[in-house]
Amino acid sequence: MDIIKDLFGQKEKAPALTKDAFEKLPRHVGIIMDGNGRWAKQHKLGVALGHRQGVESLREIIRHTDDLGIGSLSIYAFSTENWNRSPEEVGALMQLILEFFASEIDELDEKNVRILILGEKDVFPPRQRETLIRAEERTADNTGLILNICLNYGSRAELTRAARLIAEDVAAGRLNADEVTEKTISDRLYTAGQPDVDLMIRTSGEMRLSNFLLWQCAYAEFLFPTVLWPDFTVADYDEALLAYGGRERRFGGRLK
Ligand code: FPP
Repeated sequence: MDIIKDLFGQKEKAPALTKDAFEKLPRHVGIIMDGNGRWAKQHKLGVALGHRQGVESLREIIRHTDDLGIGSLSIYAFSTENWNRSPEEVGALMQLILEFFASEIDELDEKNVRILILGEKDVFPPRQRETLIRAEERTADNTGLILNICLNYGSRAELTRAARLIAEDVAAGRLNADEVTEKTISDRLYTAGQPDVDLMIRTSGEMRLSNFLLWQCAYAEFLFPTVLWPDFTVADYDEALLAYGGRERRFGGRLK
């Protein structure tokens, strides 16, 4: 990280807003951290350094989310499709997973943050898998911010898993097919017990959901700032949160 800080300096620090600056805050924020590759290209660096700088943005955003008292933050760190990237890029992301937890776990645990890994962990190399399991176990009883780190995550895979769990319950006689409700499904997603996503942010100007939290985003508000993820600051985040506060949410009904 230090090499990058030396090359580009610390990001400009705009004062972060406090909770009282917001009329309404989301209970659950989702973020697609897009643009690391383009940022690296712009700076004539390898993609691995783009991801590395992306982790710097992530640290700040997690801290601010916690400071604001938002209940859940879901970040898309590695999708089921990301395995198709070059072995060098996948290797760099695997290394960043180890470094991220090594450097952040103490502070996150101290701040009462609960870490959940959304996605199948068994396919990760042993060191990464162990790290992820340990982070979940260590923070399991924490009651503050729920940090959903989506790794090897795909929403269709998550919904397919839920369907399989329901089928197993029906087959075993624990559940009747005609008792299956939306809650039956929600309860079998990785996000069980958490509110739906209120605000989804995708950086870099791309306007796609890319198989991220499809069910949980049924009524989410979407924002697509054009800034690339490594350049996304707490000030950009505050701007997005203020914009969210100005949205009228009707959930399919009419305003009175
Ligand atoms: C998308 O940018 C970003 C990713 C595929 C990975 C995001 C991961 C991190 C920020 C770091 C890893 C996180 C943890 C918790 C260790 P892109 O490479 O698709 O950007 P591009 O569209 O500009 O090429």
